[in-house]
Amino acid sequence: MATEDIQAELLKTMQALKGQVINRESLSAGIDWSKPQKTAVCKPATVVSKSKTVQTNKEELLKALRSELGDCQHCPLGKTRKNLVFGVGNPEARIVFVGEAPGADEDEQGLPFVGRAGQLLTDIIVKGMKMQRKDVYICNILKCRPPGNRNPQTDEIRLCEPFLKKQLSIIAPEIICGLGKFAAQTLLKTEVAISALRGRFHTYEGIKLMPTYHPAYLLRNPSAKKQVWEDIQMIMNEVNL
Ligand code: URA
Repeated sequence: MATEDIQAELLKTMQALKGQVINRESLSAGIDWSKPQKTAVCKPATVVSKSKTVQTNKEELLKALRSELGDCQHCPLGKTRKNLVFGVGNPEARIVFVGEAPGADEDEQGLPFVGRAGQLLTDIIVKGMKMQRKDVYICNILKCRPPGNRNPQTDEIRLCEPFLKKQLSIIAPEIICGLGKFAAQTLLKTEVAISALRGRFHTYEGIKLMPTYHPAYLLRNPSAKKQVWEDIQMIMNEVNL
């Protein structure tokens, strides 16, 4: 090869090498290479996997709690129920609705708030709050239906409440909405009437709690819907909905 050809070849190689150096510099722009690369490159992945772990934990802890309840026979309702109604919804929910106890439809299906009162609660969530049932979590003070839909008895509440307490501590929502007298009075350990409790936030185990009228009460007293809507709007404001 002639000397000029060798020089030309060397020049080409040097230019190509220079190009690669420039490319590597522009690729690394913004990264502090003096720190271990892991920090810059792996941080988002760590955050993603962390949040996944948290989600799985709540879901799994709820599953474990459901297994703990099993074929619960702590109170006599275990003998008369068809299905234990544990609760349904998003384990990561920001809002949890707590009702009184399953009725006939709920007992039949093993799901909370699926009867007429449940349809009204669904309307509040979907039409009013512009959310879906799967975005929130829904459960009751009692996990089993009292025969003939009679009121929950003190002993039944005492025996069932620890499971609700665990359920709420796992979900750890920002807001609990206590539906009706039994939910509000049980959670707040008070005998004050629901009409006096509703309309303002209280605190349950460090969580904001809004008591409001039960959807079944609204079916009998539609004029109270206005007050429930006021309570629901306070919840929506609180979570920036
Ligand atoms: N009423 C309740 O309090 N809970 C239900 O699940 C259904 C009706």
